[in-house]
Amino acid sequence: MKVLITGATGLVGGKITEVLHADGHEVHYLTTRKEAIENKANYKGFLWDVKAMTIDSKCIDGVDTIIHLAGESVFQRWTDEAKERIMSSRIDSTQLLLNLLEDNEHQVKHAITASAIGIYPDQKEGPAMQENEVPPMADNFLADVCVAWESIGMQFQGLGVKHSIVRIGIVLASKGGALEQMAKPVKMYAGAGFGDGRMWQSWIAVDDLAQIFVHIASHKLTGVYNGVAPNPVRNRAMMEKIGNVVNKPVFLPNVPKFMMKLIMGEMSTIILASQHVSSNKIQEAGYSFDFTKLEAALEEYLD
Ligand SMILES: NC(=O)c1ccc[n+]([C@@H]2O[C@H](COP(=O)([O-])OP(=O)(O)OC[C@H]3O[C@@H](n4cnc5c(N)ncnc54)[C@H](OP(=O)(O)O)[C@@H]3O)[C@@H](O)[C@H]2O)c1
Repeated sequence: MKVLITGATGLVGGKITEVLHADGHEVHYLTTRKEAIENKANYKGFLWDVKAMTIDSKCIDGVDTIIHLAGESVFQRWTDEAKERIMSSRIDSTQLLLNLLEDNEHQVKHAITASAIGIYPDQKEGPAMQENEVPPMADNFLADVCVAWESIGMQFQGLGVKHSIVRIGIVLASKGGALEQMAKPVKMYAGAGFGDGRMWQSWIAVDDLAQIFVHIASHKLTGVYNGVAPNPVRNRAMMEKIGNVVNKPVFLPNVPKFMMKLIMGEMSTIILASQHVSSNKIQEAGYSFDFTKLEAALEEYLD
């Protein structure tokens, strides 16, 4: 395959690139930064400017698959301006890719776009959420972003391109992402749960997530897939397991909800949300997880 990745310089895209290279595939990628451009035989960078709606159309040369991950980080205070950037970096970038395919000769057969489990409603009890295409949506900004991103992504089908969506869970990795942030206070004996500590945390190891994207691409799977591991855990349990692995017990009481809201503002929804999400569909589609238990993933990614 020759895959065009947006967000290849980020946590998830970097790992997908590694997996594709290990399998002998070529990667083109789009970046907003000149200094991030490389020009190797199997890894070529191209510039785009989502605000100005400009893109180097050579990025599509010989490409059969697009993986679209790029978007401004949601881990910042959600001011009106930040919300606008978070939303438009995802929606306008998708529109730019659609325009690119419409306006140019290409061989693209399949587009895979990212989304997040933040689309699912807050739910502490009941069975894990499956990927029915129009889920009962959460009523918050993050869910609005996911709904808008998924819905514009579906327009790839109108161009005769197969389309899939991966609703990404909490990505665990050694560097960057949620685990580094969660482990920091634990390592200083200041770890604690949040709120009542009973929120479901549907996590996934970055290695599994990257392989899921490649599995979907190489098997030409279409539709929505949850990018989460088989055994989600509750928030307090997650923090205590991190404590066990780094040998720093988590003994402090949970940080109350109001305090989280005071410190983080509306963005605290990300931390306080409870999403109990199922991995069954991707497993039934033939993907076999390397990390099914949180303890094994923590051993792998924590120092
Ligand atoms: N990590 C998680 O736990 C998680 C969970 C759910 C969903 N997701 C979603 O999955 C995607 C990938 O996540 P990640 O953790 O790999 O993200 P990341 O490390 O923050 O990387 C994001 C990428 O997006 C590009 N980007 C940032 N702002 C942009 C903008 N304004 N316009 C165009 N491109 C921009 C950056 O590329 P350049 O700097 O090279 O331009 C960067 O490579 C994101 O959309 C994220 O929201 C992640």
